[in-house]
Amino acid sequence: MTEIIGVIQVKGGVGRSTIATNLAANFSDHSSTLLIDCDLPQGTSASWYATRQASLPSTTLFLATAANHLELIDKVQEAAEGFRYIIIDAPPRIAEMTRAIIILSHLSLIPLGASAAEIWSVCDLLTTIEEAKKYKSDVDARLLWTRYRANTMEARELSEAVDRELQLKGMIARLGYRVAYSEALARGLSVEDWNDTSAKDEFRALVAEIEDILEEKRR
Ligand SMILES: Nc1ncnc2c1ncn2[C@@H]1O[C@H](COP(=O)(O)OP(=O)(O)OP(=O)(O)O)[C@@H](O)[C@H]1O
Ligand SMILES: [Mg+2]
Repeated sequence: MTEIIGVIQVKGGVGRSTIATNLAANFSDHSSTLLIDCDLPQGTSASWYATRQASLPSTTLFLATAANHLELIDKVQEAAEGFRYIIIDAPPRIAEMTRAIIILSHLSLIPLGASAAEIWSVCDLLTTIEEAKKYKSDVDARLLWTRYRANTMEARELSEAVDRELQLKGMIARLGYRVAYSEALARGLSVEDWNDTSAKDEFRALVAEIEDILEEKRR
C-alpha cells in the first residue's frame, strides 16, 4: 500500500519544504519514495533533490513536479502502488491545490511556528480542510510545531492558545529552531546526514509517530 503524506500551509516560509525533504530522505532510506514538488516555479524540493542526487545518488528516492491540482492528481494516480511513500510539498496560498493534497493524503502535516501570523494562517486553512471533508470524510490534518523555541514565553503562550482555539489535532513530536535544518536543506541533505544529534532525534521521533499513525489507520 502507498502511504501519502502532504505538507501544507497557507503562509510561505513556514518550513514545508524542510519537512517534506527530510521525510523523503528518511523514508527513502528503507522504502521507495516519491517526493512531489507542487510549489512551482520556486521548486525548493526539486532543487534539493537535484543537489542530493548529484552527491548522494539514491535508487529509492524519486522526484515529480505538479504545476496544478489536476496534474497532481494524475501524478499520484500514475505513481500509485509503485512507491511505498509519496511525500507532497505544497505551495502556499493556493486553496485548490491544498484541498487536493488534503484529499489525496492519508496524513497532512501543517507546520506551525510560534508566531501569531502563522496561527492566523491556520485559521484560513480550516476552511479548506472543511471543504476537503465534503469529498473525504476521514481527512486527517495535524499541526506540527516547527522552529519551536521551547523555553520562550511566546512559544508557550501561543501553543496554549492553539490548543484552546484551533480544533485540530497536533503531532506530539516538535521540531526546534535549529541551524541544522537550513544547513542541510541548502546542501541537498537531511538532518539525518548532519551532525546535530538533537535535530536527528526529534526528526526520528516525528517519523516514528507518523509510522504509528499510518499503521493505526491500516488496522
Ligand atoms: N526547524 C527549523 N529551524 C531553523 N530553520 C528552519 C527550520 N525549518 C525551516 N527553516 C528555514 O526556514 C526557511 C523556510 O523554510 P522552508 O523553505 O522549508 O519553508 P516553506 O514553507 O517551504 O517556504 P516557501 O514558502 O518558501 O516554500 C528556510 O531557510 C529553512 O532553512
Ligand atoms: Mg517550500
